[in-house]
Amino acid sequence: MTKGWTKADWRAKPRIQMPDYPDAAALRVVEAQLSRMPPLVFAGEARKLKRELGKVAAGEAFLLQGGDCAESFAEFSADNIRDTFKVILQMAIVLTWGAKLPVVKIGRVAGQFAKPRSAATEVVGGQELPSYRGDIINGFDFTADARIPDPARMLQAYTQAAASLNLLRAFASGGFADMHRVQSWISGFTEEDEAQKYREVASRIQDAMEFMAAAGVTSQTVHEMGSVDFYTSHEALLLEYEEALCRVDSTTGVPVAGSGHMIWIGDRTRQPDGAHVEFCRGVQNPIGMKCGPTTTAEDLKVLMAKLNPENEAGRLTLIARFGAGKVGDHLPRLIRAVQEEGAKVVWTCDPMHGNTIKSASGYKTRPFESVLREVKEFFAVHKAEGTIPGGVHFEMTGKDVTECTGGVRAVTDEDLSDRYHTACDPRLNASQSLELAFLVAEELQDRRTLQKAASL
Ligand code: PEP
Ligand code: CO
Repeated sequence: MTKGWTKADWRAKPRIQMPDYPDAAALRVVEAQLSRMPPLVFAGEARKLKRELGKVAAGEAFLLQGGDCAESFAEFSADNIRDTFKVILQMAIVLTWGAKLPVVKIGRVAGQFAKPRSAATEVVGGQELPSYRGDIINGFDFTADARIPDPARMLQAYTQAAASLNLLRAFASGGFADMHRVQSWISGFTEEDEAQKYREVASRIQDAMEFMAAAGVTSQTVHEMGSVDFYTSHEALLLEYEEALCRVDSTTGVPVAGSGHMIWIGDRTRQPDGAHVEFCRGVQNPIGMKCGPTTTAEDLKVLMAKLNPENEAGRLTLIARFGAGKVGDHLPRLIRAVQEEGAKVVWTCDPMHGNTIKSASGYKTRPFESVLREVKEFFAVHKAEGTIPGGVHFEMTGKDVTECTGGVRAVTDEDLSDRYHTACDPRLNASQSLELAFLVAEELQDRRTLQKAASL
């Protein structure tokens, strides 16, 4: 694919947002250990996801990507994974119902540990320390010791990712995700309007399944009804970790990132000649790239040529994250750059990262209305340009946290301190996530009507 590329080539390129490990010998030991470990995902799975994303690019499927901003060692538990998985299944059902399209499900999970930061240091009570960069790099505690980058953390992250993926694979194929259990995916604490709405959709699906069972179609006869495909993704920020888990696929001879099915390049590290683009261009996985207000049409063209030289559908997902009120200023020029190149991409909307504010109580938060508004603007711009809004990308959790304000249960500024558990950015809680899925489903119904009209 990318002739002459090697997994260590990024080392010769300018790197930003990565730690300088003080103990180089310890780093080498960890890298050697990791490179002997089994990969977490296999090339055939990454290729399958790429094919599914190819359908998203063509408007034949819809992408739902979501999960933690940052996975943490402290919050790791089977219950947390199960709850997030459940909410993603619920959201996917609602979206499938609305769009009458298959929904490709990707978690920000089993590797989403490293965080880019706006500032290199943080000041608390007059003390300045290096910023927290995610549990795979340093510790969250505000002490000089915790903030020293420690390569051993990569091994703990790998172990947690392996255990998470193992559980997710079991949930996805071991009966938990059987469509016949559609009623049971509701979370205990989502008892309001949207839970009621979900039950209505679920009961209509149940009816349809009873009809199909009578006609001989069950999860035994149709595998797709008894299990789901669930994929993992994370930002490929810590390139020592990525390189150590990179493998050559024995079927094709092409390198593959073994750390997750899809990896993406963040808004801060998408320099065309930088280390992150260099690493991602050489692996065969589907690649995501964040597009923010500073992404120029020229850079986008160069990046598309580097990351997807063969214009393979499903290879490149552009994740738009401009902020509510700004989509119209930026998305049209980028859509046109894609059109001018005849590039096949998936366009997806991350309505989280352009909408982070500091609340009066001092917490980092995101107003639900801004999140919703950005999604609506994304759909409206695609409608005006005649292009395909392919998916959504959320920071969310299955827990009843109070991190984003608003939603039908109206989390207020004062509520934020109640259950604010994120290791990094504020996430939608289970109830807000489901509410959003219904709102996106409405937009998708609209898209469906348009597509139908166009095909008449
Ligand atoms: C993220 O997805 O958590 C993130 C840091 O996003 P961005 O690169 O778009 O700021
Ligand atoms: Co984030």
